[in-house]
Amino acid sequence: MKKIIIDTDPGQDDAIAILLALASPNELEVIGITTVAGNVPLNLTTLNALKILEVADKVNVPVFAGCDRPLRRKLVTAEHVHGATGLNGKQLPAPKIAIKEQHGVDFIIKSLRENESETITLCPLGPLTNIASAMIKAPDIIDKIEQIVLMGGAYFEVGNVTPTAEFNIYVDPDAADIVMRSGVAITMLPLDVTHQVLTTEKRMKRFANLGNEAGKIIASWVSFFEIFDEEKYGSDGAPLHDPCVIAYLLKPELFKGRKVNLQIETQSKLTLGMSVADYWGVTSEKTHPRNVMFIRDVNANGFYDLLTKRLALLP
Ligand code: BDR
Ligand code: CA
Repeated sequence: MKKIIIDTDPGQDDAIAILLALASPNELEVIGITTVAGNVPLNLTTLNALKILEVADKVNVPVFAGCDRPLRRKLVTAEHVHGATGLNGKQLPAPKIAIKEQHGVDFIIKSLRENESETITLCPLGPLTNIASAMIKAPDIIDKIEQIVLMGGAYFEVGNVTPTAEFNIYVDPDAADIVMRSGVAITMLPLDVTHQVLTTEKRMKRFANLGNEAGKIIASWVSFFEIFDEEKYGSDGAPLHDPCVIAYLLKPELFKGRKVNLQIETQSKLTLGMSVADYWGVTSEKTHPRNVMFIRDVNANGFYDLLTKRLALLP
């Protein structure tokens, strides 16, 4: 059993990732959810996190609001993809549960300090502001993190928000830079892999026909957000980004990647937020440590089989 903290900016794809984790209690213990500003402002990502827990009927998982803006820059949001609420699709009731008082960053610090070293995996699904803030505020926790498995970045697939940058990294490149340099074991699920798991019509029919309420809600979320990407890429369906993180934890054998040196551009106006991966190993390991396991391939049908089976277990 792996203990995880999901750090997130829901977002329909974040929501499906959270539901996948909650539907997998034999492998994953979600010890808390921390929210961050990203797809929509913090008040909405936090509200959405509460609603998602109620969809899964896992109301005892604590939710902590984290940072409401990037470390050094103005917040950039993505309502044009996710809708004004961040979770457009079937309207969900106002949540009955409430957030915890503690700040998300302090929850991350406290959890890492109170648990045995290397027993907690951090799963960031949004901008890396909370994770970097925890590392700045309490550097002693860095060695205690078992690993970070995150959705973010791109290399061969390049950008989805600018020509060279992926959204999560672009929103807070300074935070991403701190995390990439931290020395923690990092696995990155970039656009290169998430663009292979498309929400095709056939796959979405399986979600809609799961026979539970969650399946219907998920299908409504996907029908909303896939419109934007289908128009952009001319594809049957949209990438289902964030669930790749949880699927990787559940079935790493579905994924393939390699360890690379990966750095974040924080200066250039043209390529701000670019994740520069030395995929071909042209730099020396001495000067450019292989700091990231960069995932490039996935068995897409295996991924959807896993997702469909697990989501069917929800109410
Ligand atoms: C990432 O950006 C957000 O819009 C999605 O939730 C995902 O985390 C993809 O670039
Ligand atoms: Ca996200």
